[in-house]
Amino acid sequence: MLEVNNLTKAFGSGSNKLQVLKGVDMKLKQGEMVALMGPSGSGKSTLLNIIGGLLAGDSGEIHLNDQKYGKKNPSSVVHIRREHVGWIFQDFHLLDNLTAVDNVAMALELSGMQAKDAEAAAKVALAKVGLEDRMNHVPDQLSGGQQQRVAIARAIAGNRPLLLADEPTGNLDIASGREVLQLFKDLCHDEVNPISILMVTHDPDLASNADRMLLLNDGRTEASDIRSAWGLDAEEIVGEEE
Ligand SMILES: Nc1ncnc2c1ncn2[C@@H]1O[C@H](COP(=O)(O)OP(=O)(O)O)[C@@H](O)[C@H]1O
Ligand SMILES: [Mg+2]
Repeated sequence: MLEVNNLTKAFGSGSNKLQVLKGVDMKLKQGEMVALMGPSGSGKSTLLNIIGGLLAGDSGEIHLNDQKYGKKNPSSVVHIRREHVGWIFQDFHLLDNLTAVDNVAMALELSGMQAKDAEAAAKVALAKVGLEDRMNHVPDQLSGGQQQRVAIARAIAGNRPLLLADEPTGNLDIASGREVLQLFKDLCHDEVNPISILMVTHDPDLASNADRMLLLNDGRTEASDIRSAWGLDAEEIVGEEE
């Protein structure tokens, strides 16, 4: 469902030019959950931002279902952000004064849904992430893991086929992180409506539970197993946690 071909991206120019992505190739199938690892500063967020239509690449192509982009300006891939891609961030990005159901419904209203339909869809999504009894709580009344599940409900509520998660468990304790990962797997392996998830993580334990691991190293992705991820990146992974 997702194919990235020879994607490059540099920041800056002249002697300050930093070639972050040097020709990334990767594929993601429907129903697949892939963990993206790599040293700090290797371009993981940059890659997600380009796939999510928040940033233009310099060269190369992205195919997402029937859409083709990669070098297009963010202003011309609005439909990618609205209909095709959902985001999960490390720090949840919920609105403090809105209940769980309103946080999810508001995102749907912003993409054009009527308020009543948005509320109904928000309730379905919250039930799917196991929060049916927390719908009317505001973020402060929820644990970190529950807040992240509200954010996941928000990301899946619009039936977007691809979920991009940038260090989704970075602010969670180990048990909550594992719960989020299990939820991701359930969403990907859903029999009726499987989605695909590309997740950045520094946690090799979580990464080894994904369907597949990719390592971003020196501007390119390579397939990885858990040992080579550790062998290549042990220092950086430890450094990142400080
Ligand atoms: N908008 C930007 N302008 C200039 N440099 C950037 C910008 N965004 C990221 N970078 C640089 O690109 C490199 C990769 O960043 P990033 O994708 O955030 O890495 P990661 O998510 O793997 O830690 C870093 O050296 C970072 O400083
Ligand atoms: Mg990052």
